[in-house]
Amino acid sequence: MELTAIHQSLATRVLVVADDQDNRVLLDRLLQGAGYRTSLVADGAAAVQAATDEMPDLMLLDVGLPRRNGFEVCRRLRADPRTVALPIILVTGRGSSQDVVAGLDAGADDFVRKPYDQAELMARIRSVLRLARVTAEMAGAQGVIAALANAVEAKDATTEHHCQRLAGFAHRLGAEIGLDPAQLRAVIYGAMLHDVGKIGIADAILRKPGPLDAAEWAQMRQHPVIGERICEPLAIAERFGLIIRHHHERWDGGGYPDGIRGEAIPIGARIVGLVDAFDAMTHDRPYQAARTADAALDELRREAGRQFDPALVSAFVPLVVGSPGIPEPSVAVPVMAALATASRA
Ligand SMILES: [Fe+2]
Repeated sequence: MELTAIHQSLATRVLVVADDQDNRVLLDRLLQGAGYRTSLVADGAAAVQAATDEMPDLMLLDVGLPRRNGFEVCRRLRADPRTVALPIILVTGRGSSQDVVAGLDAGADDFVRKPYDQAELMARIRSVLRLARVTAEMAGAQGVIAALANAVEAKDATTEHHCQRLAGFAHRLGAEIGLDPAQLRAVIYGAMLHDVGKIGIADAILRKPGPLDAAEWAQMRQHPVIGERICEPLAIAERFGLIIRHHHERWDGGGYPDGIRGEAIPIGARIVGLVDAFDAMTHDRPYQAARTADAALDELRREAGRQFDPALVSAFVPLVVGSPGIPEPSVAVPVMAALATASRA
């Protein structure tokens, strides 16, 4: 294949839907001139068919069309899992705000009125494509993170649902102390993946029923560093890699792997460290039976200023005391919903 042909096959594909031939030709010339590949159709039924057959990257859709108008086409495409995320820009000669509302309600991503300014139309196309790309990347990253969290829970059966419970607690505590949406998202990811480094720890150590000897502890203490390294290739890991690395640091500097203390420990790592300890205390482990929530809170209070950030302990206690019970695995659903909300913010 020649280079120009390769370039052409990689170009973004735009499906143009317009009943007026002059308009189709004009848009075709404009888009091809900007390096896009185009397909042209003239009615609503053909638009639905072409969208599912050709899977374009974006659709420019006239509202006034024979055989299904633009609103109907939008609704039909949004109801089909194959085209639910297809970016759609509606193009209309009608200018009423009712049409704009109806178009957006039908699922269009943007709206352009005729006669359109060509530079503005191209800018809108670039903007909608950019947003679609970011959304797809976020969805992909969330899938990878969920898969990694499942991997660590499969490796260490004693922590089943632990990561999801932790993410629920960490999200509530982070919201309580006023973290912004980007920080909250990092805390949720960090909580879900804090122990991903255990993938690199020998089963004989992870599953040992008795206490670990010094050499085994030395290996176990590598898991935050291994976890940070595992997540490094993820672009968004720069937001939560340090949460993974530092979730076993102590407020008094006696933790690992770096022995940093106080506010030098990232806030997300302090949050995850605290809720991790609480969750471990309130669930059975091979080396220790579960304690009651009250007993675990007493321990947190005793360790405030030593293992834990005292301000965080003060914020966390009322969250547990005020809740009807310790959240169980069903907390995973609100966590994913929170993640979706935080992703849009
Ligand atoms: Fe850990």
